[in-house]
Amino acid sequence: MRAVDIIIKKRDGFELTKEEIQFFIEGFTNGTIDNYQASALTMAIYFQGMTDQEATYLTESILHSGDILDLSAIKGIKVDKHSTGGVGDKTSLVVGPLVGSLGIKFAKMSGRGLGHTGGTLDKLEAIPGYDINMSEDNFIKQVNEIGIALVGQTGELAPADKKLYALRDVTGTVESIPLIASSIMSKKLASGADAICLDVKVGSGAFMKNEASATKLATLMVNIGKNCGKDMTAILTNMDEPLGLAVGNSLEVIEAIETLNGRGPKDFTELCLEVAAHLVLAAKLAHTVEEAKVLLQKQIDNKEGLNTLAKLVKAQGGDSDYIYHPERFKKAAYTFEVKALEDGYVGHIDALAIGNAAMMLGAGRKKIGDAVDHSVGIVLAKKVNDKICKGDVLAVLHANQSDVEETSNLVRNAYQISKTLVDSKLILKIIK
Ligand code: URA
Repeated sequence: MRAVDIIIKKRDGFELTKEEIQFFIEGFTNGTIDNYQASALTMAIYFQGMTDQEATYLTESILHSGDILDLSAIKGIKVDKHSTGGVGDKTSLVVGPLVGSLGIKFAKMSGRGLGHTGGTLDKLEAIPGYDINMSEDNFIKQVNEIGIALVGQTGELAPADKKLYALRDVTGTVESIPLIASSIMSKKLASGADAICLDVKVGSGAFMKNEASATKLATLMVNIGKNCGKDMTAILTNMDEPLGLAVGNSLEVIEAIETLNGRGPKDFTELCLEVAAHLVLAAKLAHTVEEAKVLLQKQIDNKEGLNTLAKLVKAQGGDSDYIYHPERFKKAAYTFEVKALEDGYVGHIDALAIGNAAMMLGAGRKKIGDAVDHSVGIVLAKKVNDKICKGDVLAVLHANQSDVEETSNLVRNAYQISKTLVDSKLILKIIK
C-alpha cells in the first residue's frame, strides 16, 4: 500500500477502506508517512467528505493510536458529556455533580481552554487546591466511591489526533465535518464511558455557524458512537449569545454553585437539566426526559448536587468550603460597567467577541502554555430579548488592570440592539 494512492483515491472522491485508513493513520503516527502527505489527505477529505463508515474507521484508527481507558472496574453505567466549545459553558460543573448525586458514575476527562473558549480544567483550578492530575487507578477508585471524578487526561489518549489536529490547524482543514467528528469521538471513546451526551453548539461563537451543518456533525458523531456500541445523544444548542451570565474561571465556578443552589441563570439551568436528563435516561433511572428532570430538580432542591460538588472538590485536594462560601473566591482588583448607548432590546450577543474580551482580560490563553488569571472575566447584565434603555449596564468587567477601554468597546459592540423582540431558543434539536 502507498500513501500517495490513498490520497489520490480520496482526491478523486472514492470511498477508502478500513485497511487504507488504518495504514495511513498508523504510518502518520509512527512517522513513516510525512506531514505533507497527511496534509494532502486532510485537504482531500475536506473537499470530498467521508461516508459514515469511513468516518467510523478513521475514528477507530485514531482511537487505537493510544491508550483506551478500561473503566470496567467501575460498577454500573459510566456516563460522559462533551461540548463542542462555547463561551460561558460551565455545564460539566453542574451536570456531573447532579447525575453523580443520583449514583450515576460520571467519569470525565476534560481539557484546558484555548482562544475564546474556556476549559473545564482551568475553571476547576480556580478552586484553591483542586488537583486535576490523577492516576488511572485513583480515577476509578474515586468514581466508585463518590460517583464522580473530573480530571485532566491520564495516559496518552488518541496521540494521532493531537498530531493531526496540529497539522489541520495550520493547513486550513479544521472545519471539516468528518475530521471534527473523528477527532472528538476518538477522544471520547478512549475515555471509556458507556453513554455520552454531546452538546453541539450552533452560532457565531461556535465551530458550526448554522443548524444544518451542526445537524450533520451531530448526526455523524452519534452514528460513530453507536457503531462503536455506545448509548449516544446529541443536543444542538444556540451559541448566539454566551451561556449563562458569567464568563471567566472563578466567576463561572460561582455561577455553577449558584445553579446547584437553584439560583442559576434560566438558559444555563435549562441546558444543564437537559444534558443531565439524557444521562439519567441512559442510566435507566427514568423513562422520559420530563421524569428525569423532576429527579434532577429534586437534587437541586435538597442540595445533594451541591454536596456532591463539594465531595468532588475535597476528593481532589481542593478546599470544599469555597463551594458553600463562594464569596471566598479571590476577586479581581477592579470592576468596570459597560453601558448601553441606545434604547431597544438585546437582539444578539456575539459570543466570540465576549470570549475574546474575557481572554484580553487574562481569563483565557492565546497560545498553549500561557497562564490564566482565575479572578478576571465578564458578567453579563443583559441577555437576548432583555429591554434596555440608554445608560443601562450591559455587562460588568472584572479586571486586574485599570485600562480596559479596548475590552469595554469590544463588549459593547458585541451587543446588537434590536427595536423589536427576536426569535430565540436555546435547545434547537435532539439527535439520538
Ligand atoms: N474539537 C476537537 O477536539 N477536534 C476538532 O477537530 C474540533 C474541535
